[in-house]
Amino acid sequence: MNKKVVESSSSNRSVTLVDNATGREFTFPVISGSVGPDVIDVRNLYQDTGFFTFDPGYTSTGSCESGITFIDGDEGTLLYRGYPIQELAEHSDFMEVCYLLLYGDLPNAEQKRKFEHDITYHTMLHEQIHKFYDGFRRDSHPMAVMVGVVGALSAFYHDSTDITNPRHRMIASYRMIAKMPTIAAWAYKYAIGQPFVYPRNELKYSENFLHMLFANPCEPYTINPVLARALDRILILHADHEQNASTSTVRLAGSSGANPFACIAAGIASLWGPAHGGANEAVLRMLEEIGDKNRIPEYVKRAKNPDDPFRLMGFGHRVYKNYDPRAKIMRQTCYEVLDELGARDEPLLELAMGLEQVALDDEFFVKKKLYPNVDFYSGIIFKAMGIPLSMFTVLFAVARTVGWVAQWNEMIEDPTQKIGRPRQLYTGATRRDYKLLAQRT
Ligand code: SDX
Repeated sequence: MNKKVVESSSSNRSVTLVDNATGREFTFPVISGSVGPDVIDVRNLYQDTGFFTFDPGYTSTGSCESGITFIDGDEGTLLYRGYPIQELAEHSDFMEVCYLLLYGDLPNAEQKRKFEHDITYHTMLHEQIHKFYDGFRRDSHPMAVMVGVVGALSAFYHDSTDITNPRHRMIASYRMIAKMPTIAAWAYKYAIGQPFVYPRNELKYSENFLHMLFANPCEPYTINPVLARALDRILILHADHEQNASTSTVRLAGSSGANPFACIAAGIASLWGPAHGGANEAVLRMLEEIGDKNRIPEYVKRAKNPDDPFRLMGFGHRVYKNYDPRAKIMRQTCYEVLDELGARDEPLLELAMGLEQVALDDEFFVKKKLYPNVDFYSGIIFKAMGIPLSMFTVLFAVARTVGWVAQWNEMIEDPTQKIGRPRQLYTGATRRDYKLLAQRT
């Protein structure tokens, strides 16, 4: 494994801070990565200066060194291990992208065959896991079921939770990638009261997922290759995205040495939020609430009102201040799926395109650089494919699992890795003596 840049950097570039209260100067090294902004190495800031940095939401903070995914928010660039997302979406498939994210390069034919085989033969769940579903109400949100069942896997696989053992880490990673579609499909089947459909080893990953979602024991299920390809591409688009909220959650949970399945369950919980992966479900609810193109101005006005908590779901991004490259591919995929299903006149698509145009022409959105993100079109595709609203974020979690496990492995293997323990700016009560009850008015 290559020595980390932050350990081996020989650059003599630095920045100097001057405390204008005391005139003290503090100098910190500047480290360059292979691409993207340089960083100021402030790891010794507190011990050298007595100061903390202050960056709520980590808008300007690099939490780790990583070689997995790179985003240039101004250019609208997304690279997985250096390969542009557009080229991977066009030429690759999700299994190959999983290999790329985990191992750092594209597989040759034999490596790809073996990886797909090994993943396929981990798709089944221990038969007792059925019982976990029975503990949920049928109308539970499937993301709640995902958090519970994935967390429960840590009670099953004691043979692969020694995180210091690379082989254990890879087995746990393969198990997570392989079993998420099964867990997700069973959450859906449980919600609609249909029997669980087992994975089939002759099917490809995305075909298997569609089969487990929509097949039933009463009749053969025919996989539509256009939909299978569309789903596979959507999984590629959602596979990883640098240090987003859910990935940072997985890293922070994993930094304490926690069980990998429990860490992924924490990532699922974070992804559920409407500001993050829950946005695809929120976009559909928003479009259905808007209902008609004539009401778009009313909602755009609300989104611009600082006193109104309403935001245009599917718009804006912490990093992308240009068009999210995934949204462009997603829109193209949306056309393909709706054409295949003869639903090109889907009113929600027309409404979404109308909303997109209004927002892109509106000075407020232009000034704040708010563009459609990956979640804006995905819900329309999922709805057209017959996937219920409550399952949209579940599909995002299935895709992002490979990113979470790749980032988790990278963190564990990082020689500079420590337990994550941020500090704070304390503004609460200073020391005061306890007041007996009789003394309190
Ligand atoms: C994902 O991090 C990732 O990489 C995430 C993700 C991934 O692959 O992991 O890309 C997946 O989560 C995509 C984002 C999905 N979320 C949504 O679509 C929800 C709607 N978007 C917003 O909630 C918002 O844009 C965020 C949360 C996505 C990003 O917000 P920021 O940039 O962290 O900061 P912010 O919320 O303060 O927004 C900056 C300004 C604010 O105005 P001011 O306070 O400066 O006056 O832009 C405004 C916001 O009010 N703003 C919006 C808006 N998004 C931001 N105003 C109206 N509608 C919006 N959608």
